[in-house]
Amino acid sequence: MMNDTQYKAWRVEEQDGDYNGTEQTLNVADLPAGEVLIRVSHSSLNYKDALSASGNKGVTRSFPHTPGIDAGGEVVESATGTPAVGNSVIVTGYDLGMGTDGGFGEYIRVPSAWCVPMPAGWQAETAMIYGTAGLTAGLCVQKLLTMGAKPEQGGVAVSGASGAVGSIAVELLAKLGFEVVAISGKTDQVESLKALGAAEVVGREALIEDKKPMLKPTFANAVDTVGGSPLAELLKQIQPGGSVSCCGLVAGPQLQTTVLPFILRGVNLLGVDSVEIPLVEKEAIWKKFAGDWKCAKAEASAKRIGRADLDAALKAFLKGESAGKIVLDHGI
Ligand SMILES: NC(=O)c1ccc[n+]([C@@H]2O[C@H](COP(=O)([O-])OP(=O)(O)OC[C@H]3O[C@@H](n4cnc5c(N)ncnc54)[C@H](OP(=O)(O)O)[C@@H]3O)[C@@H](O)[C@H]2O)c1
Repeated sequence: MMNDTQYKAWRVEEQDGDYNGTEQTLNVADLPAGEVLIRVSHSSLNYKDALSASGNKGVTRSFPHTPGIDAGGEVVESATGTPAVGNSVIVTGYDLGMGTDGGFGEYIRVPSAWCVPMPAGWQAETAMIYGTAGLTAGLCVQKLLTMGAKPEQGGVAVSGASGAVGSIAVELLAKLGFEVVAISGKTDQVESLKALGAAEVVGREALIEDKKPMLKPTFANAVDTVGGSPLAELLKQIQPGGSVSCCGLVAGPQLQTTVLPFILRGVNLLGVDSVEIPLVEKEAIWKKFAGDWKCAKAEASAKRIGRADLDAALKAFLKGESAGKIVLDHGI
């Protein structure tokens, strides 16, 4: 029924090894096969979207392609009945925005098993303020809590603190009573990180490469969003029995470390994946953010942009210059 409907999307094309995104008019009929057609009102910007839009083949193999690993909107066709037509849903991760056309278009078509019901009281825009980044921050914090992290143990470090994942992690941990040490390379974000609840903001030099095999145990626990050598340095600075949730790789995918933090201090390195985990695990975190975990400051400070602003915003991610949460509003 909707197949003759046209829609706007920010579409990336490849030409002679260069990748360029532009607004295009597409047909719903051209979307990949799937069970649920969703009219997307909002998406959210993530580092992975910037990788997809720049032609990173580890994220998106074939072009033309519509990025956007997050989408919030209303079901307009449903082959399974669950979710039903008219339901508001959140879709994050799985193949969305990677091989499957994503939330930077006004429509997506996906399996019903990718759709989380919108928590009561939330609009799509609220969900997309958190997006995959918020979901990931929530999963990182949940893993620390599951390992027994408590505020009285001491400070929790958050690396890449001004980024999309980091900023939500800072606010959530502070809200849960933890003393947060935000590690950030952006001197102009010190005040906003303190406003999110960071007790202290230190520069990236806190995690600069040091030849010593172990360092002073400064942090009780940590959320690491950057990977690479900063993560190796962070592991050397965790107190006995502490944990580090690891979710990102902006500083590199390699982790060159020794076993010393693990065998001398019993440090736990906790992997976090927000993409392929079962839907029920995603739903549990969304419900928390819509309840006790509400991050009011992130909700109030998120930046809204339109499709015309996507190119510049995505390039800022690749330069490590993006800060806070950015929502794509298809109505702008
Ligand atoms: N595992 C998962 O399921 C999952 C889900 C979402 C995201 N991720 C990953 O998590 C990471 C963060 O994503 P994001 O969306 O939050 O990205 P982002 O907004 O770009 O945040 C990353 C932050 O890291 C810092 N940074 C950038 N380059 C750096 C470098 N070379 N060395 C040290 N710090 C650097 C910057 O913060 P400061 O300037 O404050 O230092 C930057 O804002 C990405 O690698 C992303 O792929 C993983």
